[in-house]
Amino acid sequence: MNLVIKKSILIIDDDTGHRLMLRASLDGKEYEISEAESGEEAIEMVTDKFFDLVLLDLKMKEMDGIETLKFIKKISPSIPVLIMTAYASVDTAVQGLKLGAIDYMVKPMDMNQLLVSIEKILNSNQLKVDNTVLKEQFHYNFDFSTIIGESKKIKDVFEILAMAAPSDATILILGDSGTGKELIANVVYRNSFRKEKSFIKINCASLAENLLESELFGHEEGAFTGAVTKRLGRFEQADGGTLFLDEIGDMSLETQAKILRVLQEGEFERLGGEQSIKTDVRIIAATNKNLEEEIQQGKFRKDLFFRLSVVTVHIPPLNERKEDIPAIADYFLKKYTKKITA
Ligand SMILES: Nc1ncnc2c1ncn2[C@@H]1O[C@H](COP(=O)(O)OP(=O)(O)OP(=O)(O)O)[C@@H](O)[C@H]1O
Ligand SMILES: [Mg+2]
Repeated sequence: MNLVIKKSILIIDDDTGHRLMLRASLDGKEYEISEAESGEEAIEMVTDKFFDLVLLDLKMKEMDGIETLKFIKKISPSIPVLIMTAYASVDTAVQGLKLGAIDYMVKPMDMNQLLVSIEKILNSNQLKVDNTVLKEQFHYNFDFSTIIGESKKIKDVFEILAMAAPSDATILILGDSGTGKELIANVVYRNSFRKEKSFIKINCASLAENLLESELFGHEEGAFTGAVTKRLGRFEQADGGTLFLDEIGDMSLETQAKILRVLQEGEFERLGGEQSIKTDVRIIAATNKNLEEEIQQGKFRKDLFFRLSVVTVHIPPLNERKEDIPAIADYFLKKYTKKITA
């Protein structure tokens, strides 16, 4: 016998039209759809029944989405909640991520993208067969083991990472040289849903401007002298996966504009190419520069900064968390003595 257990999805939205539109888009899939037109109604439903996924509108007339999310997470901490938000309230969506929402989508939503996200969330949850064990928040499964530090300040960083890593949110990592930005980018990737997909890194400071663009976006054959064959750029290589843009503060305004376009529209052209190429990448960016100062000096685009800083992680330097020095010193000592004796 082939027993198919349908996955249950709860749509919470006070806008009847939007609920119907969502239901229509999900129709024909193997889902069992329920609807709630208010936070109060949703809370009752979640108390009675386990849902595999909740789609939650943030702006609702009575109890708003954030309040609703808090209640849902209290009743059933492991339910994945996907937030639906208008671009204007992305800040609130980020607050939602911190409260345990799995991800957010900006309205108007691309229905194909929504279906992909839903499948991804449902499949990753399927692995965790026993819901009762799992009824804890994601960050209990988070693996920080490569980052050394016990200080309150580094634990605050862990807290943000635990919330943000298992989502597709763009992450901006700020901190002085050597504070571990790259290390943290690796940890985010390893704790994300995209960990089985590619992780592509590019150091934006290490290349001359035109080379950087061709590295990022690729080029067509004959696009410039020396471009003898077609080449895929990092955005294309990272499709479906994660792209780490390191030293993001060291790019020309022109390249910044191109990156902004990929972030906004999910598409770009190869150098010398006419065809727009779609890409689905999760971006992690890092810099040791003070981007707010760079913006004031006209060297960094404000709109790009806002796009990148959906979740911002400041890594404090060691002189602000001196408690961590002995453990890190010990780690390096062991690492290098091993090298010498090996
Ligand atoms: N908290 C930490 N625990 C363990 N290793 C650390 C920690 N912080 C930094 N390191 C190690 O220090 C080295 C420098 O870290 P990393 O390259 O990630 O820093 P960065 O912030 O990217 O620096 P830069 O701005 O110079 O690129 C790496 O070997 C990294 O593994
Ligand atoms: Mg680095």
